[in-house]
Amino acid sequence: MQVVFLTSEMAPWCKTGGLGDFSGALPDALAAAGCEIHAFVPLYRAVGPEARRFLRTACTVEVPIGGQVHTARILKMERGYWRSRTWFVDCPYYYDREGIYDPPGGRNPDNDERYILLVRAVLQSLETLRLAPDILHLNDWQTAIGAAYHRVSPLGMTPALARARTVLSIHNLGYPGVFGWESLLRAHLPLELNHPERGEFHGGVSLLKLGIVHAGAVVAVSPTYAREIQTPAHGMGLDGLLRSVSHKLTGILNGIDDVEWNPAADEHLPAPFHADDLRGKAACREALLRRFGLSPGARGPLFGMVSRLVPQKGIDLVLGALDEIIRVDGQLAVLGSGARAYAQAFEAAARAWPGRIGVHIGFSEELSHLVEAGADVFLMPSLYEPCGLNQFYSMRYGTFPIVRNTGGLADSVRQFNESSGEGTGVLFDHYDSAAIRWAIHRAAHIHGNPELRARIIRNGMALDSSWAPRAREYLNLYQRLIG
Ligand code: ADP
Ligand code: GLC
Repeated sequence: MQVVFLTSEMAPWCKTGGLGDFSGALPDALAAAGCEIHAFVPLYRAVGPEARRFLRTACTVEVPIGGQVHTARILKMERGYWRSRTWFVDCPYYYDREGIYDPPGGRNPDNDERYILLVRAVLQSLETLRLAPDILHLNDWQTAIGAAYHRVSPLGMTPALARARTVLSIHNLGYPGVFGWESLLRAHLPLELNHPERGEFHGGVSLLKLGIVHAGAVVAVSPTYAREIQTPAHGMGLDGLLRSVSHKLTGILNGIDDVEWNPAADEHLPAPFHADDLRGKAACREALLRRFGLSPGARGPLFGMVSRLVPQKGIDLVLGALDEIIRVDGQLAVLGSGARAYAQAFEAAARAWPGRIGVHIGFSEELSHLVEAGADVFLMPSLYEPCGLNQFYSMRYGTFPIVRNTGGLADSVRQFNESSGEGTGVLFDHYDSAAIRWAIHRAAHIHGNPELRARIIRNGMALDSSWAPRAREYLNLYQRLIG
């Protein structure tokens, strides 16, 4: 089974969120399950020398974008221990820029072209690279257009793609990739696709919608999210379409890279720990307090949060309930980047409650591991959450999560039950202040009782969230598609 996998980010080389984690881990798990997998990602400026020195040019390709022609190089990663094969698409005109999607504080006006180039460069090179995939696996709006190329353009009729089936993973419907209809011209796709039953969306063209319409299978990143996006409340205007393609829509829960996220061997931590010996976790907690300027001695839980600062993540709820954290004699360490207003609100809170609320604005792989490991309770009260990965990491690191009962959070965290001692976290239903305040109290109560605390931590740390079984679900889907 040969799989060509297209993605706009991939840990550890270039990552802004969970898609990067997903793309860094699933290909390896598929390779371990016996797939021949080739994963392609842009060679952004952010891709560091530790990756670049293992790259060698495999071919160059001329890619038409509108009336221009751009030369792209396809580079292959040679790395002994890297089972899956990673390829980079190099086109300095589009990718030698600061940031991944947008520069800090700014906006790339040509993101449609940047990702049309990625998809076209790969599809046009398949023959030269002697690839003829059974499966073309696409991710989110950035690469979804591959399904349209496959179905309605001459590119899809080449021998290299003759037997391919397409799979589109939806990681977040909140980013539909809407551009003006001229994007179709730039992509050299038929203008008839600018139609309500094809790609037309809110007066423009949605590249994600084009993918949903044309893909052979559509996978949401959790079973609950697959159901939710077929309802008006979560469908973001695409629920009608998603209901109409329900025969080809499934949900597969994400796994985690359990080598990268392993508290017993995590190079980002001051001390390792595991379920039977949590002394290292206490050292991580102290380090976390220090790094975030928090004072020792508070009796309540140390809450942690690692998040893109966007409305999706329930930031408003957290900001509105900070006094409740103080009331339970708790503390809060926030690592986040995103909307300026949210960053400023957290910084103001840190000034108002010095030693109790600590904030680090920015993107830091190292600190993200420290927060997961050092906190007592992880806060993830998302408005919606396609899957979410941080709740898995926190459970594995003995930091029990507070989550809202939605999407992948509902599929991965079980409500802790005091009498049976089962469950791994605290879930709440309603997106409102009373509900998150209740959850904060409940978490403080569990944390304050040594037996309950030991039990919930143990339950979470015992969960197996590795990719292996979920990769097999993808494999089964691939097999069903190719018959
Ligand atoms: P999403 O993809 O919606 O942002 P996920 O929970 O799936 O949410 O994945 C988020 C990933 O990004 C996790 O690996 C998390 O640790 C990481 N992350 C988010 N914000 C930061 C940050 N400020 N610094 C470092 N890592 C971050
Ligand atoms: C998106 C979603 C997140 C998911 C990630 C990986 O960024 O917001 O919930 O975990 O993709 O699938």
